Amino acid sequence: MMNKYAVFGNPIEHSLSPVIHENFAKSLQIQLTYTAILGSIGKFESEAKNFLANGGEGFNVTLPFKQDAFKFSDIKSDISNITKSVNTITYKDGIIYGDNTDGIGFIKDFTQNLGQNIKNKKILLVGAGGAAMGVIPNILMELPKELKIYNRTELKAQNLANQFKALGPIDILDQNNINKVNFDLIINATSIGINNLKFSLPSNTFNKNTICYDMSYGNASRSFMIWAEYNNLKFYDGLGMLIEQAAESFFIWQNKKPNITEELKNLLRKKL
Ligand code: ATR
Repeated sequence: MMNKYAVFGNPIEHSLSPVIHENFAKSLQIQLTYTAILGSIGKFESEAKNFLANGGEGFNVTLPFKQDAFKFSDIKSDISNITKSVNTITYKDGIIYGDNTDGIGFIKDFTQNLGQNIKNKKILLVGAGGAAMGVIPNILMELPKELKIYNRTELKAQNLANQFKALGPIDILDQNNINKVNFDLIINATSIGINNLKFSLPSNTFNKNTICYDMSYGNASRSFMIWAEYNNLKFYDGLGMLIEQAAESFFIWQNKKPNITEELKNLLRKKL
């Protein structure tokens, strides 16, 4: 029987995950189906159960179901337990396993694909929602010099800093100090670009070598890209992170590591 996988989300029609997983499967000569499923709000559990009852061996989970997927899992990975969110479900021998590959996806893209590193770096993470939370533990595990969280609603940044302070040097960047420090890496984890709003940070937050990384891609990363380019800073979008988190999920399911090719990246860029 063919391996059956899917991604649950809402909205889901623009998801690139089916193309990515079909490409991985083809390159490794594995037969599988991978479909995008529009989940209904408030019905995650029943719809997910239904998918597994009908031969599904696993699925990815995207917004807004990652917390539901955490609750849905019988056995959670360490990283999922830290962030209380799951993006990869595996169903085996009647047991539902939950994992989260978002954080490792970012680290792999940033370090392996882009050849950068986190160790001893001063990092500014802008945003304090689910996307920001998903990468914090993995960033701290790479031993940065400091990780500052900056958010429009400062209390949310403070809550995240408190939640993760046992894992490493994390703190908030408050309005009073925003003009006093500059960073090696600035990561955008806000939804500013999704809403096509202007992104801006004071010029003291960067120097000429600062790297900008947006966790989103396509139009959603445009606001931050425009700001980074205006300031002559090196900019990367999150397409590589998307592919890497998918590769990690694929590995969890199939125990095989897909090869990430430029051809796949180009194909995805055309679809954005
Ligand atoms: P996600 O799960 O994608 O992280 P989210 O939880 O809604 O989405 O978080 C969105 C983030 O973008 C938040 O940090 C939000 O700031 P607030 O906590 O103040 O709401 C940030 N954000 C969204 N629109 C913004 C804007 N116009 N200016 C600044 N920050 C914004």
